[in-house]
Amino acid sequence: MSTNRTSDRPATRRETILTGDRPTGPLHLGHYVGSLRSRLELQGAHDQTILIADLQALTDNAGRPHDVRRNVLEVALDYLAVGIDPARTTIAVQSGLPELAELTMLYLNLVTVARLERNPTVKAEIQMRGFERDIPAGFLCYPVSQAADITAFRATLVPVGEDQVPMIEQSNEIVRRLNRMAGRDLLPEARALLSSTPRLPGIDGRKASKSLGNAISLSDPPAEITAKVRRMYTDPGHVYASDPGRVDGNVVFAYLDAFDPCPAEVEDLKAHYHRGGLGDMALKRRLDGILQELVAPIRERRAELANDPGAVLDIVREGTMRARETTASVLADVRSVFHLPPRPGH
Ligand code: TRP
Repeated sequence: MSTNRTSDRPATRRETILTGDRPTGPLHLGHYVGSLRSRLELQGAHDQTILIADLQALTDNAGRPHDVRRNVLEVALDYLAVGIDPARTTIAVQSGLPELAELTMLYLNLVTVARLERNPTVKAEIQMRGFERDIPAGFLCYPVSQAADITAFRATLVPVGEDQVPMIEQSNEIVRRLNRMAGRDLLPEARALLSSTPRLPGIDGRKASKSLGNAISLSDPPAEITAKVRRMYTDPGHVYASDPGRVDGNVVFAYLDAFDPCPAEVEDLKAHYHRGGLGDMALKRRLDGILQELVAPIRERRAELANDPGAVLDIVREGTMRARETTASVLADVRSVFHLPPRPGH
């Protein structure tokens, strides 16, 4: 059921695309290869909306609301700096769309607690955050709010990482229940578009995360990028350049695979490393050069945009207002399925 709704083949017809990010910190190179790059490719050819999911961020950051607020701007700066074009992609902020909250409230009636507790991504996140005993109800229910995000835009395609596939399945289950209640195809089911690049590890080989400080962000200054590349985990058994080294699990090669413009040369380097005779420092210098070149123009644009945060927030406000036209129309449809009267004034 889920497999035929998941695909890594690119979109062919014009699709309605929705993606989102939690504003918990500046975006990093993992976001760049995992999602930003494909959003750049998709914009223009499709109706694309990117949601800055501040309400979802609060489901596990309620103790740090000021950080979430500040990161809405940081994430918007990242989008614009990498080339997301507000004329072709709508950037909207979740908390500016009250229809999403109301849809969530209605969808919660179509989902069981047991179903929420089975969500493998939520399960893993609960464990990672040590929430076992005290799970915020909002956190357990965030897949329902994400279903509201997806359906409120009538999205047909959701480009995401593997870990988000359970969210799309959950959303499609809600859509099917709702369509059955409506007796017609009120809302479309969505397909996950999986990124073809594997998840980029943090510099220590663990999952990249802001709290571990192991990610290279798009806003890192040059010296910080160099320092992080130097600290990258390679093969602890590769002590001398002449030793044969392991390529699997070697973070430097994971990054070269993701960013080196000459994949054939990377293959040669892998063979050389494996044989022995290629030192970590030479590889790290190559990677550092590539990353500096990639990040420099992004950093420059970002710094320019950051001079006028009001203008950036205006772009987000405008995108949010545009988005509301769609979310309001979907909410009106869903309210009617639940036999709720139109909102006064609508
Ligand atoms: N859960 C996503 C993440 O953690 C963020 C997100 C919120 C999202 N709403 C969405 C992704 C809607 C896709 C569609 O990265």
